[in-house]
Amino acid sequence: MNSNGFSAWLEIDLEVIGQNVRKLQHIGQAEVMAIVKANGYGHGAAEIARASVEAGATWLGVARLEEAIALRRSGLHCHILVLGYTSPDRVTEAINNNICLTIYDQQIGQAYAQQMEHLGGGLRLHIKVDTGMGRLGISPETALEFIENLSRRPNLTIEGIFTHFAHADEPQAPTTGEQLAMFDQLLSGLRRDGIAPRYIHSANSAAILNYPKAHYDLVRPGIALYGFPPSPETTLPNDIRPALTWKTRLTSVSTFPAGHGISYGHMYHTRAEERIGSIAFGYADGYRRVDGNVALVRGKRAPVVGRVCMDQCMLQLDDVPDAAIGDEVVLLGCQGEVCITAEELADR
Ligand SMILES: Cc1ncc(COP(=O)(O)O)c(C=O)c1O
Repeated sequence: MNSNGFSAWLEIDLEVIGQNVRKLQHIGQAEVMAIVKANGYGHGAAEIARASVEAGATWLGVARLEEAIALRRSGLHCHILVLGYTSPDRVTEAINNNICLTIYDQQIGQAYAQQMEHLGGGLRLHIKVDTGMGRLGISPETALEFIENLSRRPNLTIEGIFTHFAHADEPQAPTTGEQLAMFDQLLSGLRRDGIAPRYIHSANSAAILNYPKAHYDLVRPGIALYGFPPSPETTLPNDIRPALTWKTRLTSVSTFPAGHGISYGHMYHTRAEERIGSIAFGYADGYRRVDGNVALVRGKRAPVVGRVCMDQCMLQLDDVPDAAIGDEVVLLGCQGEVCITAEELADR
């Protein structure tokens, strides 16, 4: 990549994304719905989606219809599910773009069905069941009747049914087992009634790793797809790796005498003669003005000293004597063998 035109930039290794997809598919032993909401967790939705599909993902999951339409406009032709609410006014857009919607409410179902009477064809739906997340979903007690009613509507196609866990990243928490049992009971009821949606799904990243019973025939990895662990208790296999590196450059290197104040408020004073570097990166780029920031220069850790400014901050370069203007600096990710993890940065 030619990064010369940038002061601060992200590099995303799409091959790593592909490897992560294949590994998660192997663990899940199921089809993969790559979750690319929120601009692919900040990585770039279209590029992550394309890499995921090339690596074998058959579905993309987003929060909102506009995200799904943007993916279609980027040339992605695979199945796309909107996991959140879609207003009945937008059913035409969903149909025109062949996008599946999530349904969990009788009234919304009726409104969708009414829209479809004018449009013709079949609206593809996945039913969301709230087995304990306390967010979106029909309650398991009323789900059976709800699904029976929906399945009688000629223009609605129930293609999937799913739920979402509240505690899957805490392997010891009993609630995931309880949520699964509730979901399974509902699935048995549906089978008795002869209703068999093509896709049953429940597993986010943590459940893919911690709960094989939750895999069913489609898994929905988000955070693990990008190579980050869902929680401190739920770590990733070594071959699932982060794809993202956050970079900037050294823009100056100065030698200051002992006792020289650095940056606003002179919160740092050089302890001896010190080499101090500036980087073109600050809080406007999303860097927090907190203690303990560190950057990587020439494969070594260099502490950030003094207050973080809007578009610059300063590094103490004593351990990097050969550092020079123009050197690449890593704020998040690896340089050689040395890494700053997202967890480390988030802790700060
Ligand atoms: C319904 C649903 N499934 C899957 C995911 C992916 O979750 P994770 O990033 O924990 O893998 C999300 C993310 O918020 C979600 O809302």
